[in-house]
Amino acid sequence: MQSAQATLENIRKDFPILNRTVRENKTLVYLDNASTTQKPNQVIDAINDYYKNHNANIHRAVYALAEEATELYEKTRDKVANFINVKDRTEIIFVRGTTEAINLVAYAWGRDKIEKDDIIVTTEYEHHSNIVPWQLLVQEKGAKLEYIRTDDNGELILDDLDKYLATGKVKLVTFSLMSNVLGTISNSDEIISKCKAAGVLTLVDGAQAVPHMKVDIENLGCDFFAFSGHKMLGPTGIGILWVRKSVLETMSPFHGGGDMIREVHKYETTWNDLPYKFEAGTPNIADVVGFGAAIDYLSNIGMDSIRQHEIELTKYALEKFSQVKGLHVYGTPDISKRGGVISFNFADVHPHDVAQIIDEEGIAIRSGHHCAQVLMEKLNVAATSRASFYIYNTKEEVDKLVDSLNKVARIFKL
Ligand code: ALA
Repeated sequence: MQSAQATLENIRKDFPILNRTVRENKTLVYLDNASTTQKPNQVIDAINDYYKNHNANIHRAVYALAEEATELYEKTRDKVANFINVKDRTEIIFVRGTTEAINLVAYAWGRDKIEKDDIIVTTEYEHHSNIVPWQLLVQEKGAKLEYIRTDDNGELILDDLDKYLATGKVKLVTFSLMSNVLGTISNSDEIISKCKAAGVLTLVDGAQAVPHMKVDIENLGCDFFAFSGHKMLGPTGIGILWVRKSVLETMSPFHGGGDMIREVHKYETTWNDLPYKFEAGTPNIADVVGFGAAIDYLSNIGMDSIRQHEIELTKYALEKFSQVKGLHVYGTPDISKRGGVISFNFADVHPHDVAQIIDEEGIAIRSGHHCAQVLMEKLNVAATSRASFYIYNTKEEVDKLVDSLNKVARIFKL
């Protein structure tokens, strides 16, 4: 068996971008993986191969190329089903990403099912994509949006969930499996079992979780699940919405157009079978194929090894960060409850200044509100700096980040 170090070296060789230099000839250290991940040759080659050898529209024609393209596209649906343990492939809908997935649910489920005074519950650490679609919906329906608060460790206060469920008015509880800012892993078992007991549906935003740990939809027990390809080595513009069949069958279409219909007459239309009813128009075929290659790549490494690697890196980074003068780290210290995402601030130093100094060393981190302004308000800050890890990151890269954080502390005389 290969050592972990040898595996890591081999993994890095698959990512051409990791060889490039930036700024003053500095080797790129890419630590913005919560935002998007880099792509291995296997994914880039799969997309290339699709356009060079198989490009045609799918589900429409009987010629050889069209059959090949359809098969490649549908094969990825099976890979997704297998990857997240879904038994029925017709519950898997290709969308542009997590944002579109959640908007689809808000539109195609929410507009029929949400009524005046109903409550939708979300959390204070959601990405804007799991807040704004619900704001739009409740405004239209005269319903309410309520929040499960976060505590000082960045964990959810589940008493809030009990309080809202007790009203008998909650129709949906929606939460992210892992916070994109704090890295907190939600207590999904407790949330979902409470909702089930109350007969309330649950939507899980898996955008930050699926790339980093084994997710098993059957065990999870939610009703809607969304995630994006580009945060797990796949191309941008492709994502997944999974909906439990019994719920999906009650949903109206989202977009109208080609492929989602069975018959169109002048004044009426009947719908195609699931999941095609929700995949109108020519889809993002090449990127679905690339996404399939990304799933293969991750499956070959194994999601448990990926989680283990990130736990080690995060533990290492948190220890090193604790020695940097003036640095405040957000989120729980309990490593079993967090993923490889670390948000931090230096008192009185703007996160953009931090990111800029770090960028001079060739290190890419994100500074800003991370599309989570509700959480920023809660933390009482306008922004944070955030480092986020993935399969190709190394302890040496963490050391480089820590050196540059010490440089920030020196420059600002902390
Ligand atoms: N959702 C992405 C992030 O957290 C863009 O950075």
